[in-house]
Amino acid sequence: MTEKARNGSNDAREGATVIAVTSGKCGVGKTSLSVNLACEFSRRGYRTTLVDADLGLANAHILAGMRPGKTLCDYVEGNAELSDILEEGPARVRFIAGGSGVKGMANLDEQGRRKALNAILELRPHCDVILVDTGAGVGNGVTDFVLAADHTVVVTTSNFAAIADAYGIIKVVVQDGYRNPIHCVVNRVRSPEEAEQVFAKIKGCTERFLNFDLNWLGLLPEDTSVESAVMKRLPFSEAFPSSVASKYLAKLVTSLARYVSASPKSQPTRTR
Ligand SMILES: Nc1ncnc2c1ncn2[C@@H]1O[C@H](COP(=O)(O)OP(=O)(O)O)[C@@H](O)[C@H]1O
Ligand SMILES: [Mg+2]
Repeated sequence: MTEKARNGSNDAREGATVIAVTSGKCGVGKTSLSVNLACEFSRRGYRTTLVDADLGLANAHILAGMRPGKTLCDYVEGNAELSDILEEGPARVRFIAGGSGVKGMANLDEQGRRKALNAILELRPHCDVILVDTGAGVGNGVTDFVLAADHTVVVTTSNFAAIADAYGIIKVVVQDGYRNPIHCVVNRVRSPEEAEQVFAKIKGCTERFLNFDLNWLGLLPEDTSVESAVMKRLPFSEAFPSSVASKYLAKLVTSLARYVSASPKSQPTRTR
C-alpha cells in the first residue's frame, strides 16, 4: 500500500469524510456506536454509508436489523459489484455488510484488504460521511482501515484492559505514521467524571510516550436501552430516541459533524 493511500489522501478526497471506529479490545461498543452514529448523521441529512469492516466477524447488520444479501466478502472475492453490496438500512443509511464466520475474510491478505479499501474510496464521491466499523486488535485487518481514514474514533470503556488496549491501537497507528485526528469516546460510564478520568489516563500516555494529542469526543452512558434495542434488532437511537444514550449520541454527532467537509444534503428527518 502506498504512503498516499495509507494516509487516506487520494484524488477523490473532495467527497465523503471517512471516519473509522475502532478499539483495542472487543466488546466495548464499537459496532453499536458505528451503527447509531451512521443513523444520526443520516437523520441530520448527511448522505451516510456504514461499512462493516470487522473482517470475518461482522455483525453490524444484526444491530441494524438487516438480512444482507451480498457482503463485502463477496465483493473482495470478486463475486459481487459494489452496487450489489450496497443496501438501504435503518434511517436510510447505506449499508455494506461484512462477512461473518468467514475464515478467508478474517485472514485477508494485503490484496484483499486493498480491495476492501478501494470499495470505500469508490464510494467517496457519492456520500458525505462514511463510517467504517473495524474489528478489534492491532493487526493489519484493523490498522489498514484506520490508516485510510480522515478521522478515527477510538472507543473504550473504563475497564482497565480496554484502556490499555485503546492506548495500544493508538500507539500502533501513530507509529505507522497516522497523523489525522484521533478522537476518544468512553462508553458505558456511570458519570461524566468516570469518562473524564479514563480520557485523562489515555491522553496522558499518548502525549508523554507518543507526543500525540488525543482529542476528546465524548461519552456514552451505561444504558439498558442499548441492550433492549439489540433484542429488538434495531439501533438504539431508532428504537429509543428519548433514551439517555440517544441524547449523548446526538452530542457526539454534533461534535463529529464539525470535522465533516460536506454539508447535509437534505432536511433533518426523524424516521420514527
Ligand atoms: N452504552 C451502553 N450501555 C449498555 N450496553 C452497551 C452500551 N454500549 C454497548 N453495549 C453492549 O455491549 C455489547 C458489545 O457491543 P458491540 O457494539 O458489539 O461491541 P464491539 O463492536 O466493540 O465488539 C453489546 O451487547 C451492546 O449492546
Ligand atoms: Mg463489533
